[in-house]
Amino acid sequence: MPRPISATIHPAAVQHNLNRSRQAAPDAKVWAVVKANAYGHGIERVFEGLRSADGFALLDLDEAQRIRALGWRGPVLLLEGAFEPRDLELCSRLDLWHTVHCDEQIDWLAACKTHVAHRVFLKMNSGMNRLGFTPARYRSAWARLNALPQVDEISLMTHFSDADGGQGIAAQMACFAEVTRDLPGERSVSNSAATLRHPDAVAASDWIRPGISLYGSAPDHPEHTSADWGLLPGMTLSSEIIATQAITTGSSVGYGSKFVAEQPMRIGVVACGYADGYPRVAPTGTPVLVEGVRTRLIGRVSMDMVTVDLTHVPHAGMGSEVTLWGRASQGAVLGIDEVAHAAGTLGYELMCALAQRVPVHLQVTD
Ligand SMILES: Cc1ncc(COP(=O)(O)O)c(C=O)c1O
Repeated sequence: MPRPISATIHPAAVQHNLNRSRQAAPDAKVWAVVKANAYGHGIERVFEGLRSADGFALLDLDEAQRIRALGWRGPVLLLEGAFEPRDLELCSRLDLWHTVHCDEQIDWLAACKTHVAHRVFLKMNSGMNRLGFTPARYRSAWARLNALPQVDEISLMTHFSDADGGQGIAAQMACFAEVTRDLPGERSVSNSAATLRHPDAVAASDWIRPGISLYGSAPDHPEHTSADWGLLPGMTLSSEIIATQAITTGSSVGYGSKFVAEQPMRIGVVACGYADGYPRVAPTGTPVLVEGVRTRLIGRVSMDMVTVDLTHVPHAGMGSEVTLWGRASQGAVLGIDEVAHAAGTLGYELMCALAQRVPVHLQVTD
């Protein structure tokens, strides 16, 4: 019998989450961001749920090829553009739209012998200071691109650094609006947090670019939960109890004896560890569901096992269902953000870190 751990992907939930973005931005087209193999969910597994998007945005050419292999004929955007000149050949062949964020990418386009002019998204660095032309250089980059026969339509884009926090997007929006005010072309400015939190960004965007919210994680947890935003988990990580122990007061649990029982208690040993992608740093108290009942992790996470408190789940035993995040079969939900928060990280990291050894199923009826 295989180890009882598995992940389940919920395409209907992903579709529901996509619809939430549509409700927030009814007039905008939606790029479904599926980079990093759809944030760990698997591009092929979420494709049906995201079919009603207007386009797919990603990074790797390999992932773009996979989207085309699924029969998608609509727009595909490379969010970081070409990494080397020959990537542009594939852009021509697969009809990929691509981001242009630096002079070198314009040089490559100028030298490229393509029969089809390319649709490009010119990226402004409006404050994030990762990719893009500074406001001072943006218009000259636009003029250079506009003069190239290899370039068809130029769209305008930027990415917010603080859409999920107190600083917000006002300064970046003002900068982007000022520099681009009289330039033609569609605008794309909105990640999940901006889409859900900032209607002004949505109003200024012809194309929004939600990623994390599609997969059911709140972009601004803990200020808001996924339930606050009406999002459903796109992934469930579940396992089973493979052993129980009755321990006495003063007994410790796991490596480093980090948890010491203050009273006699029953604990469960779960087939899930950091080699499955569960965060090793998750401390005692991290929430977990056993038979759909909320309880807590105790002691250190080890490579293949975690231990949980069964005090309030007296009926649980060998083979009991454990939900590390997502939806229990009884319907109870443990948000991935809660687990991530306890471990000092974000839902993004946990979903992307699901380990290869975990078998993944697709939920066909939701
Ligand atoms: C350029 C760009 N747009 C959109 C997104 C989607 O962001 P989120 O997953 O926060 O919605 C990302 C993700 O990092 C990105 O890099």
